[in-house]
Amino acid sequence: MTLDDNTQQQLVESAMHARQWAYAPYSHYSVGAALLTASGKVYEGINVENAAYPSGVCAERVAVYKAVSEGEREFVAIAVVTENAVAPCGFCRQVLAEFGVDTTVIIANGEGQIACVISLKDLLPGAFRSEDLPRATP
Ligand code: THU
Repeated sequence: MTLDDNTQQQLVESAMHARQWAYAPYSHYSVGAALLTASGKVYEGINVENAAYPSGVCAERVAVYKAVSEGEREFVAIAVVTENAVAPCGFCRQVLAEFGVDTTVIIANGEGQIACVISLKDLLPGAFRSEDLPRATP
């Protein structure tokens, strides 16, 4: 699904707003995310790091988990804001793919400038999904 420019920019603004709350005392790399659901709601997320490093979690997954825990299952787009406008990590791509590979990923920098708008299926080609599990009942 292609999103109009205004919706894209609004989602980036939400991700920028969230980013102020990033908890990143180890990497000092703050990430903000904003996830737009098919129901029209926006769930924000930030990275939450931990002294036991692997216990930390990325901003995108926080946004997805917040949404899923509120009953959401269909996602239209996610905006991700970092200082240098980079794409979501592999873990986050996989978690997003669970709920559909047509989600639009909007990648922006700390000033809100959009560097890239790309479909999740292009970020994670050949994603392992529920269809690949013969006895899955998602
Ligand atoms: N991080 C994210 O929040 N999203 C990504 O897609 C990549 C990395 C976070 C994890 C960690 O807190 C910090 O950025 C540095 O890796």
